[in-house]
Amino acid sequence: MVNQVKLNDSNSTRVPAATLRKQLTSIFSAVGTPDDHADIAAKVLVSASVRGVDTHGVANVVGYSQNAENGTYSIPQQMDIISESETTALMSGGNGIGLVSAYTAMEIAIEKAKKFGLGMVSVKDGHHVGMVAYYAMMALEHDMIGMSMTTAAPAVRPALGARKMLGTNPIGFAAPAGEERDFVLDMATSTVASGKVGLARRIGVPIPAGWAVTTEGEEITEPPDGENDSWALNPLGNTREQGSHKGYGLAVMVDILCGVLSGGGFSAQLSRGENMTWVMAIDIARFRDVDEFKSMMDDMIRELHATTALPGEDRVLVAGDPEADASDDRLANGVPVENGQYAAIRARAAEVGVDVII
Ligand SMILES: NC(=O)c1ccc[n+]([C@@H]2O[C@H](COP(=O)([O-])OP(=O)(O)OC[C@H]3O[C@@H](n4cnc5c(N)ncnc54)[C@H](O)[C@@H]3O)[C@@H](O)[C@H]2O)c1
Repeated sequence: MVNQVKLNDSNSTRVPAATLRKQLTSIFSAVGTPDDHADIAAKVLVSASVRGVDTHGVANVVGYSQNAENGTYSIPQQMDIISESETTALMSGGNGIGLVSAYTAMEIAIEKAKKFGLGMVSVKDGHHVGMVAYYAMMALEHDMIGMSMTTAAPAVRPALGARKMLGTNPIGFAAPAGEERDFVLDMATSTVASGKVGLARRIGVPIPAGWAVTTEGEEITEPPDGENDSWALNPLGNTREQGSHKGYGLAVMVDILCGVLSGGGFSAQLSRGENMTWVMAIDIARFRDVDEFKSMMDDMIRELHATTALPGEDRVLVAGDPEADASDDRLANGVPVENGQYAAIRARAAEVGVDVII
């Protein structure tokens, strides 16, 4: 099963995070991305790989840099504020690199939150933003709570529905703790992010029942082709009995904040690779003393961790734990890059004429 497939020394190559970042920055720069934007794009992709979110990590430099070169992305991108108030902004991502427009939107939200306690930015004209929690996590170092969401082209069926109508529309939420690790929820509103079906297909393993169904409602275990409309991912909850209407409702909420509020379009109006995004920063100090907030976060996380685990389970986690564990390992021992993707990044570096340093 794809859930049991882990990168290991035989299917991946470990590269130090700093080397990956240099390599990615050089590739983005070579296709005309301004230096500051190349740095942001590389930083966000490497962060995903460091956190173990390999589906949204460094390998994406290949497609993104091709999009920059072939005109799918407008480079250099012109990001404009279309309208704003003290606490809100509607922004155009300039049809450029989605990582850069989402990052810029969160910088704006944080600046507004510093001045007015809250900042909220909805982004239209955007492309793929990758690991959505990155932008929520930007709030942490400012002692703020961050939220980030993005809407994408259809891959998921509505509850009771037979065909793809919604993106995997992920939600990111980050809140700082004191001594414990920060709470970072980063979740698709489908049972699984579509990248994991692609991974299963690439490595030739079945997917678990419950991830996807045919338009006739039959369970799929053979990983299907993403372009094909004869199947759909299930919304979180899978079935009527298990609450698929709730995952469906969350996906539509994401569509509203990201796509309808910005005017950039809801999932069914988007093309593959488009992402409309919404971010928010909340200044904790406007509510209560920050140290007291963090201390209560610590108490809550410790109590959750102390819950007796079910038989057969090691321990109870909170959101962000698996990624923090991956970061500890990968920052110390190098970031594993799937061998095929490692070769593709090296080939891309050579193709755009920069030194191959990984
Ligand atoms: N840009 C896009 O279009 C797009 C679309 C969909 C998903 N994504 C990204 O794909 C990535 C993967 O999404 P996913 O939904 O498959 O994530 P996932 O199922 O791997 O994890 C979801 C969340 O659950 C937490 N978690 C895992 N095990 C836990 C446990 N036992 N107890 C408590 N919390 C636990 C994780 O820390 C994480 O916050 C995310 O980074 C997401 O942002 C991006």
